[in-house]
Amino acid sequence: MADWIFVIAISAGVLVGTMVLRRLLSRHVVYKGHILLTGKTVIVTGANCGIGKATTLDFARRNARIIMACRDLAKAEKAVKDIRKVTQDGQLIVKHLDLASLQSVRTFCEEINREEKQLDILINNAGVFQCPFSKTVDGFEMQMGVNHFGHFLLTNLLLDLLQKSTSSRIVVVSSALHKRGNINFDDINSDKEYSRSKAYADSKLANIFFAQELSQRLKSSSVNVYCVHPGMVWTNLGRHVISPVVRWLVSPLASLLIKSSHEGAQTIIYCSIDPELNNETGLYYGNCKTESWTPTAQNVIAAKKLWDLSESLTGLNKKTL
Ligand SMILES: NC(=O)c1ccc[n+]([C@@H]2O[C@H](COP(=O)([O-])OP(=O)(O)OC[C@H]3O[C@@H](n4cnc5c(N)ncnc54)[C@H](OP(=O)(O)O)[C@@H]3O)[C@@H](O)[C@H]2O)c1
Ligand SMILES: *[C@@H]1O[C@H](CO)[C@@H](O)[C@H](O)[C@H]1NC(C)=O
Repeated sequence: MADWIFVIAISAGVLVGTMVLRRLLSRHVVYKGHILLTGKTVIVTGANCGIGKATTLDFARRNARIIMACRDLAKAEKAVKDIRKVTQDGQLIVKHLDLASLQSVRTFCEEINREEKQLDILINNAGVFQCPFSKTVDGFEMQMGVNHFGHFLLTNLLLDLLQKSTSSRIVVVSSALHKRGNINFDDINSDKEYSRSKAYADSKLANIFFAQELSQRLKSSSVNVYCVHPGMVWTNLGRHVISPVVRWLVSPLASLLIKSSHEGAQTIIYCSIDPELNNETGLYYGNCKTESWTPTAQNVIAAKKLWDLSESLTGLNKKTL
């Protein structure tokens, strides 16, 4: 009898403990706005899984026309099926985009610019985390290449279309880990030295510099730029550092303690659609509110330098903004 009471007490203690821990460790804010996106066109990069898929599902429910820009069309079609099990609303269009190839980015943008009459929201979400050293088609280190350079060219090639809308938004998905970044302009592709974690942090700092510089350049336009850190989210982003077995083992605890993809998508959704943010640009957001830039992020000189370097390395030969 006493044993049973002991077991029940321990179980209750553990349950309450984890719930408290969950509350303490992260604030799982959910965006409450009921804005519909009927008639709006959105592009989400990396829409087939994780935060990108959760964002796409939310936008489908809001009746948007969503272009899912993915490198693996089979995975993207599978994601469409999954989303269609939940909602029939909105329009889902799958298009091939490999951010590790500038040619693929150009082909994608040519098609979009030819076929779409408008683009209201661009979400630069796709990302690669701590992969072994490898290069993109164009010789960029993979994390910097996909997370930054690919999105740099993509965004720039879609700017004219974005500017056609009376108001449009670009959401850049960065990470709190950017604060560990310190971009080495003399070794941007990690040819001399490669650290998986440093290259990731540098690429996410590059996202921040890009968002800031872009917002400056678009100051007098109708395009606003929002930079988001989603928080710790239980996705398959860690695929290069956690084996599938370990992932499976820690999954129950992880999903208790850190955000789900749905929760991780909330600040992106908020920045994409909330009318309160109509006049905001060039700011940093987490948990559906503005946060101050970290000291690392406040380096205007590095931001400018990265822009110029990116312009020349991606061969962006466009009129200056
Ligand atoms: N999860 C977190 O805790 C966390 C924290 C801070 C920031 N973030 C950021 O959130 C974003 C989304 O990550 P996630 O957690 O949702 O990870 P995820 O589930 O691994 O999703 C990453 C997405 O990016 C795509 N992608 C990777 N390389 C690509 C390429 N070369 N071309 C096109 N798409 C490519 C992936 O496609 P495949 O499925 O084909 O690989 C996938 O759709 C990333 O930018 C990440 O840095 C995440
Ligand atoms: C944005 O600015 C316009 C023009 O100054 C103003 O009319 C509008 O109320 C502002 N919107 C918000 C949400 O602050």
